[in-house]
Amino acid sequence: MKFFIDTANLEEIKEAQSLGILDGVTTNPSLMAKEGISGEKDILNHYVNICNLVKGDVSAEVISVDFEGIVEEGEKLASLHSQIVVKVPMIEEGVKALRYFSDKGIKTNCTLIFSAGQALLAAKAGATYVSPFIGRLDDVSTDGLNLISEIRDIYDNYAYETEILAASIRHTMHIINCAKIGADVMTGPISAIKGLLKHPLTDIGLAKFLADHKKNN
Ligand code: G3P
Repeated sequence: MKFFIDTANLEEIKEAQSLGILDGVTTNPSLMAKEGISGEKDILNHYVNICNLVKGDVSAEVISVDFEGIVEEGEKLASLHSQIVVKVPMIEEGVKALRYFSDKGIKTNCTLIFSAGQALLAAKAGATYVSPFIGRLDDVSTDGLNLISEIRDIYDNYAYETEILAASIRHTMHIINCAKIGADVMTGPISAIKGLLKHPLTDIGLAKFLADHKKNN
């Protein structure tokens, strides 16, 4: 499973990168706003800075909601850097834009996926990635992981090449369960990624090894 970090914070990206496990980055307008990045020039520069920090795909989301606007914005984003993936919302105009970008060889990430039907449509339109938001489904008492399973079954039935990018990851068990189900990618915060490191028996075991070593040295 590929590991993406879901942030626009350069320090967090560097921290994940330093672990040697990072395959890419996802951002969204809320994450960019959280970092205080605004204005077209600064936003585009920030995407380039992120691309220069990591080797893999970097999702940059369009703001437009009409086909022409999505295409214009997406082409500008894609021209910034070869690692840019154009993030497009799952709306009717977005589906049309997914097909347009796919035909032009521009990578896409179809975001705000909350149903298997939406994921099926995005794959039909040639999306590179689909982003089912599992945490936000869990927030409204709906099993987000079940959606990942449904999409996995559908994509495997027809050998769709669209990759399932499990998004809105909140904690380590989301990551582990997504890996068990067969999500191709997960994108989560640094806290969930680093949470995978932790086990009290590891800490206890290491403390004992070091104490025993000290006795004879
Ligand atoms: O980037 C999309 C998704 O990961 C957002 O997550 O935590 O805002 O639901 P969250």
